[in-house]
Amino acid sequence: MKKLLMMVFASIMMMTTLAACTPAVQTVDIGIVLPTRDEPRWIQDEERFKAALESTDYSVEILFSQGSTATELSNVETLLAKGIKVLIITAQDGDAAAAAVEKAKAEGVTVIAYDRLITNTEAVDYYVTFDSVAVGEAQAQYLVDQATGTGNPLYLYAGAASDNNAFLFFEGAWNVLQPKIADGTFVIKNSSEAVNLQAKATLTRAEMSAVLGQITTNWDFNTAKNLAESHLTAAAEADKGNVFILAPNDGTARAIADAFAADTAVTSFKVTGQDAEKASVQYIIDGKQSMTVFKDVRTLVTDAIDMAVTVLEGNTPQTTGSYNNGSKDVAAKQTDVVVVTQDNVRAALITSGYYLESDFTFR
Ligand code: BGC
Repeated sequence: MKKLLMMVFASIMMMTTLAACTPAVQTVDIGIVLPTRDEPRWIQDEERFKAALESTDYSVEILFSQGSTATELSNVETLLAKGIKVLIITAQDGDAAAAAVEKAKAEGVTVIAYDRLITNTEAVDYYVTFDSVAVGEAQAQYLVDQATGTGNPLYLYAGAASDNNAFLFFEGAWNVLQPKIADGTFVIKNSSEAVNLQAKATLTRAEMSAVLGQITTNWDFNTAKNLAESHLTAAAEADKGNVFILAPNDGTARAIADAFAADTAVTSFKVTGQDAEKASVQYIIDGKQSMTVFKDVRTLVTDAIDMAVTVLEGNTPQTTGSYNNGSKDVAAKQTDVVVVTQDNVRAALITSGYYLESDFTFR
């Protein structure tokens, strides 16, 4: 009997110890959903979020959607199950993400659209963003500044039509390029839809969609490369020579630049980009990409975290303007962008402390 009692006592002790070891259900205060690990741009955001979060007491979890709206939705569901109060999300597809954020809203979560606006839904509370129209304007202004005379061949490329930013970038570029197409400085070589619209200073969303339909890279390097190669195959020798290329971001810029560099009828090319991805910074140093638009992700991350913490503390975040998403005006905080070329690459990206000198090979 004594032995039996000892055994019962021992097993009770073991169970208590085990229970003490079982972790409590993990709760998360702020959920972050980013679109893909396949583009260095979003790895930048992840790293900067992690750095910024070291100094907060709130618990945070970052999940990636890997280019899939379905994964994005299940990521949001996972975070909701962990009790998040704030969701910071970069939509894979601006319209399709509505379903995910509507679920979050239904559970009382505050939704912050990060970099990309979520469209045609009421379920977005705030938007932190760069000035995306200014990105496109800066890219186009760079090309304009490099061009002399008339008849310069112009090749246009754009981002994914499922990303509202692709329209903002193109709108900005068109603002600056269109007068220079109208006055003969540039001649569009790779989009009949853009040629049809070239007399129009401002394009509607539907008109932009028609152009994007011909020149979208889908934010995908291979698509960009194949598209550029097919445009070069279709173009006559006279449409090459010294060419000007509007490339929407760094990943696609490198792919498009490589395709143009491989064509012997292309004597020289100027190509734009954005994001200041390390690989493109090296391309700029090496003279293989002409410029990038630097979007200081640290600022966007700080703005998003500050907003989330303000909400968690029961206060209302400060905003600087608003963006209409088709259903409502979303209160927004916007950040400026910086043009980087070979001339200021060191000052803008290394002296500023954004990257390390040792990340690059200077000649
Ligand atoms: C972002 C860009 C990025 C692109 C492709 C856009 O929404 O603003 O920085 O290069 O998506 O991921």
